[in-house]
Parts: sequence; structure tokens; C-alpha cells
Amino acid sequence: MSTTPEQPTSTTQRAIETSRAYLDVIHSKQLTRKQGEALIAETLSNFRNYYNPGFLEYRKSVTEGGDYASVEWSGRGATFTDALGREFLDCLGGYGLLSLGWSHTKVIDAVKAQLERAPMPTQELLDPPRGMLANLMAQITPGDIQYSFFVSSGTEAVEGAMKFAKATTGKSGFIAAVRGFHGKTAGSLSLMGKAKFRKPAMPLLSNVYHVPYGDADAVEQQLRIAQEVGNEIAAIVMEPVQGEAGAIVPPDDFWPRLRQLCDEFGVLLIADEVQTGLGRTGALWGVNHWNVVPDIITSAKALGGGVMPIGAFMARPHIWEKFIEDPFFHTTTTGGNPLACAAAIATINVILEEDLPRQAAEKGVYFMDRLQPLAEQYDDVYERITGKGLLIGQHFRTPELGYQVSAGLFRRGVLISGTLTSAKTIRIEPPLVIEYDEIDEILNRLGDTLKEVSGAPVTGETVSVPVAHLPVAAPVAVAALVSVAATTAPAPKATTRPRANRARSTRAKVAAKPAVITVKQASQAVAANDDADIARVAMA
Ligand SMILES: Cc1ncc(COP(=O)(O)O)c(C=O)c1O
Repeated sequence: MSTTPEQPTSTTQRAIETSRAYLDVIHSKQLTRKQGEALIAETLSNFRNYYNPGFLEYRKSVTEGGDYASVEWSGRGATFTDALGREFLDCLGGYGLLSLGWSHTKVIDAVKAQLERAPMPTQELLDPPRGMLANLMAQITPGDIQYSFFVSSGTEAVEGAMKFAKATTGKSGFIAAVRGFHGKTAGSLSLMGKAKFRKPAMPLLSNVYHVPYGDADAVEQQLRIAQEVGNEIAAIVMEPVQGEAGAIVPPDDFWPRLRQLCDEFGVLLIADEVQTGLGRTGALWGVNHWNVVPDIITSAKALGGGVMPIGAFMARPHIWEKFIEDPFFHTTTTGGNPLACAAAIATINVILEEDLPRQAAEKGVYFMDRLQPLAEQYDDVYERITGKGLLIGQHFRTPELGYQVSAGLFRRGVLISGTLTSAKTIRIEPPLVIEYDEIDEILNRLGDTLKEVSGAPVTGETVSVPVAHLPVAAPVAVAALVSVAATTAPAPKATTRPRANRARSTRAKVAAKPAVITVKQASQAVAANDDADIARVAMA
């Protein structure tokens, strides 16, 4: 008996057409102006309707700059372009993800070569890139750290480190730092040093104790109290330099004392190097500044060279004992896949061959030496500058001033952004391959921005900044697209966040200005709220 193939439903047909149009966009190397505009409309509609409308409003620089419709397209080194072809200097580096810059050719070539042969593992045979990367990790980590386990993100690396610490010590407690940041899954979130992120997920792990960062006496006191009252501590987890807290550098005796306290109290030392690792602070690992060998190190972000997601935790031999007895004690299907490992192997090669830690150290000093006088000149705007290498925190007198500076920079074609646990801090975290003339240009534009912001109203009003530095004066037109999308799609839920309120007032002000480019076709597609149409327009 013959069977007829099942007819696709109209929903299926529509999804097929939408996905075809999306694949066409993915395969495009360049966009025409019209395609760029359409892609912006499409992306806005997708984020608004299917991803998270809140995200359109909530980014410090982009939103406050009145240009929250900015859509990234491609990049090289420390420069990227948006969908309209506007060039930006990247002073954010994807929160530490892009240490090698955008699209490093050596990493891309390694991934392509692996991709064409064997992208994913069988799970049963031995996959060579995993072993190679583990070997390299043992070579580049301090002391007798020997074994590695690979995952796909920073938070997974921290979760793994915590689990192995518990299994090794038979204890369940952790000591972490106020304003520390280790990720947002249950275990890592328990270590988090900020109520805003922890509270919605409570109850978290009950046996976590927070101390002020950089205060070894407080750690010692916490260990003594824990011992006295019977709270058994498995490990101390800290960032070598706090990243999301705003590039906070601890006193020089902090890490050596942590090591000594861990040895004294029989507690493991976990260095969370997800952000500080692989050269960011001017040494290959943050702990290398103080010659400390932790028991476990976590890594992620830059490890994939800005090309593939990969995380890792590496440990001294005794921490692997349980895992060697039972290799299924900890598993992940995709973590450490051949593509990710190929990327990480190429990344390590680039970091060492191009000596990115030294570059970060020297460029960090260059940056700081020029930033510091600006902070002193504009002491009505700045509280202080902190950091090490190319992990730099600009601490402003108020969060609003920080927003204004990042927005002013964004309008001048420089991307910087806030930090996650300090409202008043804007980070400078560019690719480590950034050129000196690019740093000079960023500082010039920062100087122009500060002139404008200093003495300007700080709350409730937007500062009008010319977009002369941008090759295409388009934020206004983009805002026009936004306003079209806003009238057709469900409005984002009202929020009491002052940031979002400011963003709305900024947007209203910008949208009131005349558009400088034609957005008709894209706008119609958004108005019709038709994904397939919008995607087709993108390719028109
Ligand atoms: C020190 C540190 N640990 C862990 C994480 C979490 O990494 P991921 O976002 O890849 O989960 C971050 C992210 O910013 C981090 O800075």
C-alpha cells in the first residue's frame, strides 16, 4: 500500500520560509543599506516579540544613546560595524569574550578545518582535540595543576569546580566575596555577592558565607567562626581581580594569605579566572601576579578566542581522584566538543605567540596613565579609576553620570558598558589586540564626551551630542524604526527602573527628530509583523 507524504501545515510552511530567508541573511557577506535597515527592523521585532523586549531598553550605552536599535554585523580586531555600516571601536570586548579581537583568522581557520572533518564527538571513542587542549592547559596553568574538564560557559565551569571541591573534601560550605560574580546558575549564583541577582532564585545553597573582597582578615575570621560552630567549608572561591564589581584589585598580600589560610584550615582555593584569565590583567592568569597556585582554576570567555563557546576547570591531581574512579561522575554532551577545543588550542597559540599578557600589561599602563589625568580633571564626574592590565573600571560619582559618558561615547562610535554588580562603574575591557592609535582615538572621544557631560544636567534630561564621528549619521533613523515597531508590537511591561524611564525619555526625544534615511519597506514589514516578509525584505 502506498502512502502519501504528510503535507506540511501552513505553520510548518511558514517556518520553512522564515528559516530560508534567515539562512540567506546568514550567508550574506555584506548588506546593502536597504538590507541593513530591514535587518534592523527584523531584529527589533524578533527581540521585542520573541526574545525579550526588556533587553531593547536596558543596555546602558546603547539605550541611553537613543540608539537601542543598533544591530551588530561584523568585525576585525578591535573594530566592528553595525548593520548600517557604521564603524565602532570596541572598548568592551564582549565582557572579556573577545580578547583576541573580532574574528581572529587563526582561530577561525582552526575551527573551519575541524568543522569540515569532525565537528562533534562520538562520545565513545577518544576525540583528539580534547586531549590536546587538556595537555596544553596543564602546560600553561600554574604549579602542579594537571587535569582539565571542558564545558561551554563560565557558570558551568564554576559549578563543576564547586562540585569537585565538595566531592574532594566531603564538605559543603563555601566562602565568597561581596560583589563577586561567578555566573547565574544555582551554585554559582549562591556565590554571587549581589542581592539583586540572588533574591529571585532563593533559596540557594545555604552554606555560603560572604566576606568583603580583598580582606584576608575577614576570610580568616569567617574560617575560624565556621570551625567553631561546625560549618564545614569546602572551598574559598574568589576572582583574582573582581571583574563585574568594577575591576577591583585586591591588596598584594590578599592572594598569598588566601593560600596560606586554605592550607591552615584544610580548605580548597578556587580561583575564578573566567574573566581575568588568559592575559586580561597583564599576566596569563590573574593569580600569577602573586605567584599563587590555587587548587582549582576556572576559565571561559576568551578561551574560545571569540569564535566558539568553551569553559574549563583545571585542578591539581588529588581533586581528580573521585573522577578517575568514576568518569561518569561529571559529564556534559557538548562541553569540550572538537570545534570548541580547536578554537581554544588556536587561542592559546595566539595568546602565547603574540604575547597578549605582556601586551595587556603595557597597553593597560598606557591607558591608565592617560585616563587618570582625565579623571582628575573631571573630578565632578569621576570618583576613581581602578584596574589591572586591560580590565579597567571607571567609577563615576553617580550611575547617571556613567550612563551619560557611555552614551556619549557610543554616539561617537565607541562601545563601552556597565558592570553587573556595581551600578556606578563603566568598564574598559577592549580586545587585547587593540592598537595604540585606537586607544588614542578612544581617549580623544572620551575627552570630548567629558567636556559635554561635565557640568551638564545629570538626571531626567538627555545630552545632545553630535554624531559627526560616525561615518553614517543614522541613530535618528534607527529610532524611527523603533517607533514603528513600538506601535505594532506588544509594549514592554511598565517598569519602575529609573534606567528604563530615562531610556524612554531619550527615545521619545530622538524619535521626534526627522528621519534621515528611508525605512519604508522595512517599516511596513514590521507593521505587518510578518517574520518571513521581514526576512525577505532583508534580502531584497
Ligand atoms: C568571574 C566570572 N565567573 C563566571 C562568570 C560566568 O560566565 P558565563 O557568563 O560564561 O556563564 C563570569 C561572567 O561574567 C565572570 O566574570
